[in-house]
Amino acid sequence: MCGIIGYIGPRDAAPILLEGLRRLEYRGYDSAGIAIQTGRGIVIRKLGGRVERLAAHVSNMPVHGSTGIAHTRWATHGAPTERNAHPHLDCRGLVAVVHNGIVENAEALRTALQRKGHAFYTETDTETLAHLIEDEPGETLEARVIAALEHVEGTYGLAVLSASEPDKIVVARRGSPVLLGVGDGEYFVASDASAVIEHTRSVVYLNEGDIAVLTPEGYHIVDRESRVQHRVVDDVAWDLEELGLGGYPHFMLKEISEQPETVRSTLRGRLLLSEGDARLNGLNLTPEDCADIKRIVILACGTSWHAGLVGRDIIEELARIPVNVEYASEYRYRTHLEMPGTLAIAISQSGETADTLEAMRAAVTAGCRVIGIVNVVGSTIAREAQGGIYLHAGPEIGVASTKAFTSQIAALALLGLHLGRRRSLSQAAGQGIARRLAQLPDLVRCVLALDEQVRDIAAEYADSPNFLYLGRGVNFPVALEGALKLKEISYIHAEGYPAAEMKHGPIALINEDMPVVCVAPKDALYQKVLTNMQEVKARGGRLIAITTEGNGDLSGLVRHQLRVPAAATILSPVVTVIPLQLLAYHIAVLRGCDVDRPRNLAKSVTVE
Ligand code: AGP
Repeated sequence: MCGIIGYIGPRDAAPILLEGLRRLEYRGYDSAGIAIQTGRGIVIRKLGGRVERLAAHVSNMPVHGSTGIAHTRWATHGAPTERNAHPHLDCRGLVAVVHNGIVENAEALRTALQRKGHAFYTETDTETLAHLIEDEPGETLEARVIAALEHVEGTYGLAVLSASEPDKIVVARRGSPVLLGVGDGEYFVASDASAVIEHTRSVVYLNEGDIAVLTPEGYHIVDRESRVQHRVVDDVAWDLEELGLGGYPHFMLKEISEQPETVRSTLRGRLLLSEGDARLNGLNLTPEDCADIKRIVILACGTSWHAGLVGRDIIEELARIPVNVEYASEYRYRTHLEMPGTLAIAISQSGETADTLEAMRAAVTAGCRVIGIVNVVGSTIAREAQGGIYLHAGPEIGVASTKAFTSQIAALALLGLHLGRRRSLSQAAGQGIARRLAQLPDLVRCVLALDEQVRDIAAEYADSPNFLYLGRGVNFPVALEGALKLKEISYIHAEGYPAAEMKHGPIALINEDMPVVCVAPKDALYQKVLTNMQEVKARGGRLIAITTEGNGDLSGLVRHQLRVPAAATILSPVVTVIPLQLLAYHIAVLRGCDVDRPRNLAKSVTVE
């Protein structure tokens, strides 16, 4: 969940590495460091805290050299301190490593290495890698790295320097994403493309078990038996500008505001209005495959799991296929009793979430066909799935996922339509849902106009210690998502609940201090939700309702009502969630929280 970057070429490495770390900071931001080959050995600069602190430190204590590696951290083993920050060195400071992943047998390796006389300086699992490499006699650094990794259990995206081979970076991948950037006479290694596209769009995604050797002359890739591996050079579609704030104060607000375009981009070229169908060429499913699906299991984490819950209702309605939505982290360790004809869908914005990736692999082992619904092009889940749908929502930098959620729902609706039309959904019914899908970008634009109202409501509740979110049917997941957004970025304790479930417990929490957000669009369950709101009001709860334009005035029942435009019920989460994204955002800003880099979180959870 950390970010690693490396550079080798004619230019001064430090400024390139620091800029790359700034781009990778959303992956982890509790400490950072760089290691540079200076010609007189490897020099380290590292600090606890943000990349900007490190950059200031390096400008006070400059270090020059044209080969280097760097790291921004999300601590797993050892507190986020300067001492535990990467890069880590061996005993004599001749080998430096940066690592994204977890060495699961670090304790045993540390004990064995200490018995051999190695002195450990940090509490981290990663430091064992530097000492393991130091311990290997091999001729070349890559040979020593390969031999050292034979002892390692766990995951790694790893970059290594050795003072005895100053014109070389050795890179290894197992479990964590790593790519190479191929520039004009210069080469990069990075956790994702955002760190290199300023310099090159040509990237090589490393596969599991790949070892890459970068020198000023070029790069080559081998496997654990040192057999040469050939990997394609891909071209990164998005550009640098998309990685900027674009004049917004935070990436989260920028990404919330982009949703009319990003939902449109997910639908572009896929909606067939006259046929009442969806064209999904990347699915790799024939009409017969679609007709033969007996059951669907959705695998995801966090916000993607919430989108999966909405997707279940959409697919069951349009395609009449039973859908189970599983927490990927739980599913991967369960006994898999998948029956033939099961389609597994892995939903992941980053395409790198370890639990979702491993759950997908477990589904493959259990005999499922797997597809991915992913935003990051070239990510591991996208490359390992047997087909899929890219969201085309552009880079999502804010740790709290927003535009990916609405695009995931749009993609799941396209999938439901595509499967439905190859099963029992009539053309007329298909045309109806296709028309409603096509309206979504404009409806989303209308909802964004509520921002001012939401900001005023946020001002009233920013000091609340707790929040309760309620919803029914396809909007129950929206209540979950609203609560998650608030928790993530404002650190207020919040729970999402099915509205009817409230009286089986959470209603005990309600008093005049408890803000209760009710997602209550005008649909078949509206009257039921009204009753639940009555139950809250009867206990003094402070109600905020998200309801539909043209719906009766609720001012007698609620303190605040936000009206969103009417959408098809199964698509309504795309509009009802946006006021909740904005509410969390404005409350977090009012509480002075770091909206884009909330504490203890990271954008892509690549460790278990
Ligand atoms: C959402 O705001 C969080 N960042 C987190 O819950 C996220 O949704 C989860 O980690 C899954 O990430 P993914 O979609 O990249 O797999």
